[in-house]
Amino acid sequence: MRPLPGVLGAVAPVHVAPMAGGPSTPGLVAAAARAGHLAQLAAGYQDVEGLAAQVRAVRAAGTESFGVNLFAPNPVRIADDVYEAYRAELEHEAGRPLPPKHEDDDAWADKIAALLDDPVPFVSFTFGLPDAAVVAALRSRGTVTVQSVTDPTDARAAAERGIDVLLVQGEAAGGHSAVLDPTSTPAPIPLAELVRRVAAATDLPVVAAGGIGSAADVREQLAAGASAVSVGTAVLRTDEAGTNATHRAALADAAFDRTVLTRAFTGRPARSLANAFTRAHPDAPLGYPALHHLTRPLRTDAAASGDAQHLHLWAGRAWRAASAGPVADVLEALLA
Ligand SMILES: Cc1cc2nc3c(=O)[nH]c(=O)nc-3n(C[C@H](O)[C@H](O)[C@H](O)COP(=O)(O)O)c2cc1C
Repeated sequence: MRPLPGVLGAVAPVHVAPMAGGPSTPGLVAAAARAGHLAQLAAGYQDVEGLAAQVRAVRAAGTESFGVNLFAPNPVRIADDVYEAYRAELEHEAGRPLPPKHEDDDAWADKIAALLDDPVPFVSFTFGLPDAAVVAALRSRGTVTVQSVTDPTDARAAAERGIDVLLVQGEAAGGHSAVLDPTSTPAPIPLAELVRRVAAATDLPVVAAGGIGSAADVREQLAAGASAVSVGTAVLRTDEAGTNATHRAALADAAFDRTVLTRAFTGRPARSLANAFTRAHPDAPLGYPALHHLTRPLRTDAAASGDAQHLHLWAGRAWRAASAGPVADVLEALLA
């Protein structure tokens, strides 16, 4: 297996995962970097100007070693009648109108153009695979590329596109699953076993993610062949994360007692704390990003009003280990 290239190999082997929707702030990225770890900005759901402002803020904090994570387009088209049926169900429940169907590609081409124009040390992709031409163009600017994969088949496909590093995401991970076939769900394989299988599939270096909450978890993944690990949920309650107050409180609330893989919020499988919304919609349709846009007003209101029962409470299986405090302390404890 090749070593981790560039800045990925020049830091402590516990990286901070990208988390779109608020948690990944420039302050989180800069604080992780100051503590000797690697982190990335999450471009998902942001416009190009917002992403550029975050890149400027990270650099203004004196941080040069960081990355940017993108949602590579891989939509699941939802039929109009299926969309309308789910919309009617949610409108009835919430007693308010919800938006008509809207699909977009998260400004993919504009974000790639911006990253070619003003390169960053590494760019990572989830949801879909970038074209080989995009990977080659980024490489020509000196940018290392990372692809999230959930099985050996996807790992080989990423290698064929010219990707430099594989982020192996296990089914215990919080937030959206990186499955390249969004109609599938990640296989219930222990992360260390998945790391071994993916590491055997290509000669690319592997970073392991999903359900890592302790130093023992980190050691297990490194022993299985990962060159580093990446943690998301473990830093959601830290001072520097932009996690909203409702989500933070739920992560620390003993009343939430399990996580579930759900597509109720966005039409793509994602791991969340189980709440009233996930229980009410166990058979929600597939349809990302249309269903992300459909439920967004409900989720925005839920976050603002402190209603954890109707908010997407992204959390990995190790959420109970997520502690508050400076991110540097959380990362140091994982290295112990
Ligand atoms: C709140 C939240 C948001 C996330 N957003 C993204 C994202 O924008 N891009 C991405 O590649 N992964 C995203 N993920 C997945 C993480 O990058 C990572 O794979 C996952 O957090 C690892 O599992 P863990 O949460 O158990 O540590 C998100 C995870 C969470 C918890």
